[in-house]
Amino acid sequence: MIVGIIGSGGREHAICQSMNNSSKIKKIFCFPGNAGTKKIAENIDLDLENFEAIKKFILDNKIELIIIGPEKPLVSGLVDYLEKFHIKVFGPNKLASQLEGSKIFTKKLCQKFKIPTAKFGIFENKESAKEFLIKTNYPIVIKADNLASGKGVYICDNEKNAMIAVEEIFNGKFGIAKNLLIEEFLEGEEMSFFTIHDGNVFKSFDTAQDHKRVLEGDKGKNTGGMGAYSPSRLINDELKNKIIKKIIEPTLKGLSEIGTVYKGFLYTGLMIIKNEPYLIEYNVRMGDPECQTILPKLKTDLADIFLACCEEKLSEVNIEWLNKKSLCIVVCSKGYPDLFEKNVEIKNLKRIKLDKNEFLFHAGTLEKNDKVYAIGGRVLNFISLAENLRSARENIVANLKKLNWSGGFYRKDIGHKVID
Ligand code: AMP
Ligand code: GLY
Repeated sequence: MIVGIIGSGGREHAICQSMNNSSKIKKIFCFPGNAGTKKIAENIDLDLENFEAIKKFILDNKIELIIIGPEKPLVSGLVDYLEKFHIKVFGPNKLASQLEGSKIFTKKLCQKFKIPTAKFGIFENKESAKEFLIKTNYPIVIKADNLASGKGVYICDNEKNAMIAVEEIFNGKFGIAKNLLIEEFLEGEEMSFFTIHDGNVFKSFDTAQDHKRVLEGDKGKNTGGMGAYSPSRLINDELKNKIIKKIIEPTLKGLSEIGTVYKGFLYTGLMIIKNEPYLIEYNVRMGDPECQTILPKLKTDLADIFLACCEEKLSEVNIEWLNKKSLCIVVCSKGYPDLFEKNVEIKNLKRIKLDKNEFLFHAGTLEKNDKVYAIGGRVLNFISLAENLRSARENIVANLKKLNWSGGFYRKDIGHKVID
């Protein structure tokens, strides 16, 4: 089978690697991919907003299955467009992708189906939002409604910061804002829960916990994710059951009432308070770096899983996992998540010799004349599977010392809550 993967991050390299391990896969195209995917697939640089060009490439090259990694093409409706041409696509359609594309859409669904979540208000202009901010208690959370690449969320300790957030959002920092969301601040521990759906049934797809803050000790600015470990330390059967019954099933019912179904990965971002789950956000894709952390544990052929999802046959697939712990450390360009230099060469990559329990997935990298350059904020993902997370982390740090890349940095304390 010939497949195509849309995206260029560590998540997409991990998916590409798992697909490459499948005996069913003859050839992989990545749109646009990175220096890592280039070793096992053909990278194609197409404008991801040009749906027609993507469709033409797929049909011309007889690609039989497309997997969409990031949220943007999903929210823009690439699945709906390609399906019109009878192309098999793994990912949710435009309407279902509103679960991530509009935080207000999701909050309204929570309200209608009594899904546990933070109390909230929707404000349509600066004046009404500010009026509320004067009389509320702090901390409080202020969110832009639309996709903001993880940046449109402000946790405000005081009125002054809250006023700035309202100004920035309504002044268009994250695109045209017709409204914004103000939420109660939930105090608990975060957890990510992943499920995979075929439009009819769904199965859980393991758990992971990422570290979003840039500095050790979970301090500093928010990032796309500095590392992750799997499984999450919070998961237990009772909690899993509650997440499914109180959150995921009512959400799917809500989608069915508006005439659609969910197909693809669903990432449920939760706050756990006393073993009770509260929905913080949905993402309509796998997490990054959680995907890189989880996929190396997968025993089942990923191509079989994706195909089953596209053919509504997920109930026939048994998803099996290695009984190991997994940890991932992300190497970033110095300066990330603020300004960083691009096109910095990553030397020493050839020094890294991976054993069968170690994985290196590229993210913001580009290969030119046999050299690898960093072109993004998050650059490389090192993963290790081991009997325990401490050994996994030690294995990775040993590799990172061999790499010794002067252009980058990483957190040495990934998994600290479970390890230290
Ligand atoms: P989101 O993009 O909605 O996941 O928000 C980004 C981060 O902000 C989350 O991962 C949480 O750490 C934090 N956050 C969002 N909403 C809340 C909330 N209501 N209470 C506490 N923390 C929150
Ligand atoms: N690791 C967080 C995310 O993928 O959104």
